[in-house]
Amino acid sequence: MKNIARFKTKLTDLLGISHPVLCGGLMWLADAKYVGAVVNAGGMGFITPRSFSGLDTFRTALKDCRKITEGKDFGVNLYISSRPHENDKLPGFIETALEEGVRIFETAGASPKAYLDILKKSESKILHKVTAIKHALKAQEIGVDAVILVGAECGGHPGENLIPSFVLGAKARQHLNIPMIIGGGIGTGEQLLAAIAQGADGILMGSRMLVSKEIWAHRDYKEHLIKLDENNTSSVLSTFGNIYHCLDNDTAKAVAELELSGEADFEKYRHFVQGTLQKQAYETGDYNKGLLSMGPAITFANSIELAGKIIEDIVEDAYGAYLQLSENVIHLDQRSTRIKQDEKNAF
Ligand SMILES: Cc1cc2nc3c(=O)[nH]c(=O)nc-3n(C[C@H](O)[C@H](O)[C@H](O)COP(=O)(O)O)c2cc1C
Repeated sequence: MKNIARFKTKLTDLLGISHPVLCGGLMWLADAKYVGAVVNAGGMGFITPRSFSGLDTFRTALKDCRKITEGKDFGVNLYISSRPHENDKLPGFIETALEEGVRIFETAGASPKAYLDILKKSESKILHKVTAIKHALKAQEIGVDAVILVGAECGGHPGENLIPSFVLGAKARQHLNIPMIIGGGIGTGEQLLAAIAQGADGILMGSRMLVSKEIWAHRDYKEHLIKLDENNTSSVLSTFGNIYHCLDNDTAKAVAELELSGEADFEKYRHFVQGTLQKQAYETGDYNKGLLSMGPAITFANSIELAGKIIEDIVEDAYGAYLQLSENVIHLDQRSTRIKQDEKNAF
């Protein structure tokens, strides 16, 4: 792979990476092999600590990733719950990551405020992922290094107001002075260029990357994904104020039916929403099992490829689109010549 840097932005400077491309944390899936491949391709990826059975296996993944990247920096995803008791494991994740030399964190969910001191003391870079402008502004105010804005199109949790990525990005650009990244529904080079043209410093992808060869999930799951288009995802669980964007499979359909019937007792949903079902689906390839995070950007995934190839194609396509766009722009001198010609023709 060529891995030629085409775009220099505040994000590439902040993280010391070749391409303004982040691949967000993927529960169960963002392990050493996948994140290492993303980093080696010139982007930045984030290992998800909650995917591991304990701190020991998490530490092993960090060491493995360090080996795969030959010492290059890689990131860790910290999901922060708004229910404090669910964050019991976070201090252990942070301590282990810092001990293993990790200095780049993608925080998501609730505010990272409680963890900023320890992360800042170690000179870590904190990129906070949000779904609303007010949270982006708050994150800037408390001192994160960059904000990732993911819109309604994103796989997983798109927030409650379902604001599209381009609206979020354009609005955020008017108010943020720290680097900002747009995510949600992104999977092509033209979109990367459009995001940068819009004032973003980079993009973040999740769904598009699920068909990467380095993603350990069963081949049947990936074979299914490459047949999908933008109509094959679904939004469920709005009943509980926690919208979830996932593959439109048998489980999502069953949950949607329960919601349509007006069922509001969470106990009736519990057996559908267990995270362990997702793991089983990835292990067995039975993609109808569990609610599997996914957004419509899956439509851009048409073959099972190396993560590095996906990233390189996106960057090269963005560059090609930029060159094409430059050709289409009518430059000032050409325009005045044309105006003069038009005036002449008028007489
Ligand atoms: C399978 C899957 C698992 C995810 N798990 C997490 C996670 O554990 N933590 C997190 O912050 N985001 C998670 N996300 C969200 C992604 O990091 C990213 O924000 C999102 O996928 C971007 O939108 P896109 O899917 O349209 O590219 C997940 C997304 C997917 C598709």
